[in-house]
Amino acid sequence: MSEQTLTITDNRTGQTIDLPIEDDTVPAIGLRQLKVQADDFGMMAYDPGYTNTASCKSRVTFVDGDRGILRYRGYPIEQLAEKSTFLEVAYLLLFGELPTAGELTDWNDRVMAETQIDGGLKDLLTTFGADAHPMGVLISAVAAMSTLYPDSKQVHDSQNRMQQVLRILGQLPTAVAFAYRNRLGSAHIDPDNALGYSDNFLHMMGFSGDGEVDPVLARAMDVLFILHADHEQNCSTSALRNIASSDADPYCAIAGAIGALYGPLHGGANEAVLRMLAEIGSREKIPAFLDRVKNREVRLMGFGHRVYKNYDPRAQIVKKIAYEVFEATGSNPLIDIAVELEGTALEDDYFVSRRLYPNVDFYSGIIYQAMGFPVEIFPVLFALGRAPGWLAQWMELMSDTEQRIARPRQIYLGEAERPYVSIDERG
Ligand SMILES: CC(C)(COP(=O)(O)OP(=O)(O)OC[C@H]1O[C@@H](n2cnc3c(N)ncnc32)[C@H](O)[C@@H]1OP(=O)(O)O)[C@@H](O)C(=O)NCCC(=O)NCCS
Repeated sequence: MSEQTLTITDNRTGQTIDLPIEDDTVPAIGLRQLKVQADDFGMMAYDPGYTNTASCKSRVTFVDGDRGILRYRGYPIEQLAEKSTFLEVAYLLLFGELPTAGELTDWNDRVMAETQIDGGLKDLLTTFGADAHPMGVLISAVAAMSTLYPDSKQVHDSQNRMQQVLRILGQLPTAVAFAYRNRLGSAHIDPDNALGYSDNFLHMMGFSGDGEVDPVLARAMDVLFILHADHEQNCSTSALRNIASSDADPYCAIAGAIGALYGPLHGGANEAVLRMLAEIGSREKIPAFLDRVKNREVRLMGFGHRVYKNYDPRAQIVKKIAYEVFEATGSNPLIDIAVELEGTALEDDYFVSRRLYPNVDFYSGIIYQAMGFPVEIFPVLFALGRAPGWLAQWMELMSDTEQRIARPRQIYLGEAERPYVSIDERG
């Protein structure tokens, strides 16, 4: 077998170095050996947006964007979405294996035992006005949990970490539902721990009316949560790993991750898609809208992905669920616009040549709207689904002995040293 090294020659100096190749990767720090002068800092890799930089070694989620593959712990997303429950997938992400029947019952019980939220958190949530964006409220709620559970600072104690995992999985849906009902001016609905995770969430949101939550909607919610549960080193997960690398507690790290998710280029895209479809308004207006996209006036929201250069496998599952939900709720008129928009874009050279396909957010918002959720809450639903992935990535980070505090370098292009100018001499 040929040698597993990469030879680099610096043509400025003729210096040659060999870097070890492991998993098709070379250690970036090896570049520092390349110097023109002995006292130079040495060479770095420049990678804005980290498009080709591996920040960690992970065993949680595999994505092959060229082939449209997504697997959690080796299991294809299609099979998990068809056969698993969300809490079962959360267990898989966190512990690496699917649970046995006994382990799953125990796990469900342990998570559901944590669904009550603290009175202090309820007080905080009632202070937000009806126009407060639910993502800002969720960030505040999770940050506040850091103050309610100061024991969570013991991030190097694995038992303590698991306690926080259970609290976060158990309490987030309750906090979201409490804030949502407060915003509506409606009475708070207590969690019902006898229900499944998504069933209980919809129950607390007020979906059960006088009876039970429609099982079709509860299952659709569960599958949507599964599809969002992890996506390796995306913007919010990287934000979480960055924050947690300083040994900040998991509530602060997740609050930061939710902040990253809030942006319209990430988890805010599902909300943006709905606003876009409403703005297009009718199928006849699609060509004119796509012209605006091609003129770079607007982006086609729900299309394109940093990693997927093929159909996002989650988008196909979401599209299928949409029609199942419509059977229960009646159709959402925006689906016709979405389907035609997708079809037209996929035949247009602008999108074909850039390998832009629908991503998970393209159809998920249409389902949420058909279920009766207001658009502002869509990214919150993404966050609820992503929580086990963030937690699994956090657990992995905390037991990774190669990790250090995240601290990228920069290329400094600013002023060289210059003398201070007093205020009366500036002009
Ligand atoms: C997801 C996203 C941020 C990925 O960005 P990225 O990997 O940095 O890709 P780029 O922005 O470099 O895009 C590559 C090219 O495709 C174009 N492009 C990418 N997404 C596009 C979109 N949604 N609509 C129109 N053009 C798009 C870019 O303009 C660029 O064209 P150019 O090479 O002619 O300049 C981007 O595709 C996007 O903004 N999508 C819409 C938001 C969205 O749905 N986000 C949810 C992701 S799950």
